[in-house]
Amino acid sequence: MIRFTENASLLPYNTFGIAAKAALLVEYNQEEDLPTIFQDPRVKGKPFLHVGQGSNLLFTQDYPGVILHGSIKGIKLNASGDEEQLVEVGAGEVWDHLCQWAAIRGFMGIENLSGIPGEVGAAAVQNIGAYGAEFKDVCVAVAVYDVQQSKNYIVGVEDCRYGYRTSIFKDAEFKSRFVITGVLLRLRTKALFNIEYGNIKAALLERGYSLQQKDVRTSRRKPSKVNRPITLSAMRETILAIRSAKLPDPAIYGNAGSFFKNPVIPIVKYRALHSQYPDIPMYAVTKPNGEQDPNMVKVPAGWLIEHSGCATRRVGDAAVYPKQCLVLVNMGKAKSQEVVQLANIIIETVLDRFDVQLEPEVNFI
Ligand code: EPU
Repeated sequence: MIRFTENASLLPYNTFGIAAKAALLVEYNQEEDLPTIFQDPRVKGKPFLHVGQGSNLLFTQDYPGVILHGSIKGIKLNASGDEEQLVEVGAGEVWDHLCQWAAIRGFMGIENLSGIPGEVGAAAVQNIGAYGAEFKDVCVAVAVYDVQQSKNYIVGVEDCRYGYRTSIFKDAEFKSRFVITGVLLRLRTKALFNIEYGNIKAALLERGYSLQQKDVRTSRRKPSKVNRPITLSAMRETILAIRSAKLPDPAIYGNAGSFFKNPVIPIVKYRALHSQYPDIPMYAVTKPNGEQDPNMVKVPAGWLIEHSGCATRRVGDAAVYPKQCLVLVNMGKAKSQEVVQLANIIIETVLDRFDVQLEPEVNFI
């Protein structure tokens, strides 16, 4: 199926709920449609933007080119090993459906990424991350269609140049050349949960789970009501509960998740801030070679925004979400210009107060 719509509303394709339009919207549902689409005179040689659910986009105006959306579905078992299962997933699968599918079957590695809005293709572009896990940790390869050469390729994870919310697929050169059609993931079949981040341990204890990790496959003892061994579904439910307590549901308040990246600052600057604000949190920064960077740390943008007094800032219908100030929400009929204005006020206020420059994580289109 290929559907061409001129002057199309982009409301279904941005979770911010901004009423922008595209000169042409092309929707398709199989990889084999791509050569036909890119040969079509309405598309050939025109600038295009491929979107998923648009959970990380802000349309600042109508899009004058072609917006593409693929619904390539399918989750298939590939090879399996002693403690792992390879899984092939279509780029148009909803990310959290995949997390749920994996949790039901006992495949681990993406449970901490439960509840992240968006589709699998976008997860591979953005290297989504949460609660100590990132897409790249489970990615083996990404399947793409090369628009320039009309060919399909497999890009190995080592060539995807994954970093903090970034990849080769965000580079200007590749953005307008590759369409992601699917991913190959390596999931674990042996339980070892990542419970180190933030308040995961506290949330598990509160629900009666023991923090001692056992292999759920081999554990034979009948679990008691307290001190139960952590299970995959317990991990998923705990992550979903932590998220829903802090993050707005895009179906209620339009939003695009974290609006800003957590800034990386020199440790010397962090120490100076820490002496003034002893409760300012920080995370270690990992270099591309996997070593910890001794000179730089990451600080939560949400903390900086809240402590610069922006938690209740609002411009028209664009507002800061007070429970997680890193998220900007659409309270009803926000215009993109209101969101941009609010973002600029926040950037200036944080710079003024802490001398730290915030950068948007959301892609402005
Ligand atoms: N904090 C505040 N005030 C706030 C928000 C946060 O003081 O308004 C403090 C928290 O108390 C905590 C620290 O900042 O000490 C970190 O907060 P949190 O655990 O909520 O994580 P984050 O660093 O704000 C990042 C990701 C989120 C991801 C969470 C959990 C980025 C830009 N954001 O947020 O990702 O869910 O960690 O792993 O890296 C997204 O990318 O859309 C997203 C939601």
